[in-house]
Amino acid sequence: MEKLNGRKINTAVFISGRGSNLKSLIKNSKRNNSPFTIKLVISNNSKAKGLTYAKTSKIKIYIDNFKNKNISEKRLLKKLTNHKINLICLAGFMKILSKNFIQKFKKPILNIHPSLLPKYKGLNTHKKVIENKEKYSGSTVHIVSSKLDSGRIILQKKIKLAKFENEKTLEKKILKIEHKLYYKALKKFLFNL
Ligand code: GRF
Repeated sequence: MEKLNGRKINTAVFISGRGSNLKSLIKNSKRNNSPFTIKLVISNNSKAKGLTYAKTSKIKIYIDNFKNKNISEKRLLKKLTNHKINLICLAGFMKILSKNFIQKFKKPILNIHPSLLPKYKGLNTHKKVIENKEKYSGSTVHIVSSKLDSGRIILQKKIKLAKFENEKTLEKKILKIEHKLYYKALKKFLFNL
């Protein structure tokens, strides 16, 4: 990936639902010193609530249902090239990108995962954390590799669970830290290229 040299990196954010991380990424991308600009929001779900944030900010939206992953990924690669996208941020994107897609895109793909990776990869992290009576949890921004939730960690934030924490309260707490963490991780990653 080329150095920044004062330019902002063209970024695509992938979502599937609520999009609260997208919302904060959009807000932060508008800061003067932000190293990235969001050019495209991609979703496999045309009803994703998060798409409203893209619309409000007049960011282009591309929807592909991923019913045939192979075909969808091919279309997606074209779209990304046409929009000169140099970075992908997954933010609550519920599809797993293939090894082939990751290799062909060639540029970095980042993800945010609501646990202290390598602990609690995959789905239902908060439920598992509560069931296992963990004292701490958190969130991790990492590079996407072909193995689920396993690429190099860029930044992690740890929080202590309250005495009577439940899935809902934990989710709320973690989302709040995620909204700062993703931007912080992006700055760390992009300024250190
Ligand atoms: C976040 O907790 C993120 O870590 C995980 O999915 C959730 C997405 O939330 N990958 P939102 O759609 O950004 O509100």
